[in-house]
Formats: sequence, C-alpha cells, structure tokens
Amino acid sequence: MSTPQVAIIMGSSSDWDIMKPAVDMLEKFGVTHEAKVISAHRATDMLLDYAGSLRERGFVAVIAGAGGAAHLAGVTAAKTTLPVLGVPIPSKYLKGMDSLLSTVQMPKGIPVATFAIGEPGAANAALYAVHIIAVTDKGMADKLDTFRKEQEAMVRNSVLPTT
Ligand code: RP5
Repeated sequence: MSTPQVAIIMGSSSDWDIMKPAVDMLEKFGVTHEAKVISAHRATDMLLDYAGSLRERGFVAVIAGAGGAAHLAGVTAAKTTLPVLGVPIPSKYLKGMDSLLSTVQMPKGIPVATFAIGEPGAANAALYAVHIIAVTDKGMADKLDTFRKEQEAMVRNSVLPTT
C-alpha cells in the first residue's frame, strides 16, 4: 500500500459529515489519504505525536477540521512544517463563527491556511491540497485543468426553469 499523501484530522467523530467532502474530493483526484479523529484538548499527547510524525511519514499536507474554540489546526501547525489547511466546523450556538475566528486568527510565526466554514471549506481544503501536489506533479495539474473545464461547461450549459 502506498504512503498516504494527505492527512485529514478532525476534533470529533461528530465532525465527519462536514469533513467527508474533503475525503470525497481527494478520492476524485486519486490522492491517497488517511482520515482520523484527534482532539487537541481531549487527546493532546496523541495529537502532538501524530503531528510530529507526519513529515517523516511522507505526507505533503494536513487538513484539520474543528469546531468551537478550534485549536486543532493551530496545534498541528505548531508541531509540523507541512502546510496545515484549517476547516472551521459549524457550531451549534455561534454557527461556526467561533471556529472560523479560532482557526484563522493564528498569531504571527505559525501559519494555518483557513478555508470557509463547513462542507465547502472541507472540499476546497482538499482541492488546495491537490494544488500543492500539482506544483510538482504534471499529471495532477492536468486533472485540475480538466476539473475546471468541467465546472465551466456546467455553467455554460446551465438552463433555468421557464416561467
Ligand atoms: C471540537 O468540539 C470538535 O471539533 C467538534 O466540532 C466540537 C464538538 O465535539 P463533540 O462534543 O461533538 O465531540 O473539538
């Protein structure tokens, strides 16, 4: 079995429905991946060990989804120099604004690339990981070109209901 290229981590199994579009997008592009639940506050040592081992295990990027006071992406970024792509998970009371601000407002020195709240952010984080791989992989860049042409064709072929 080949080494996974992208790690997808989330703070709770309750995040799965939001994060699944990231897995689906990586599979669409044939990017190997590993998905896991790891919590920065409920399983801190596990996260530190995992994040610290990602580069030597051969990953190229990490997608981290968490909700509320979301520190999963930031702590992961503190333990690896791989690109960390943060996905804010929608939360019950603040609708993910808490997750967004916690993820995007990283202090200077430890960057987290932060995506939109929810499923679109998860899908785009995965697409961004594909873009990172495509920097050195022409086959992947060609797949991205095809994907964009398909999106354009969908717009060109859009038909509105007649009134
Ligand atoms: C965060 O707390 C998780 O990422 C999740 O979005 C949120 C709620 O977790 P559960 O209480 O549903 O496990 O750590």
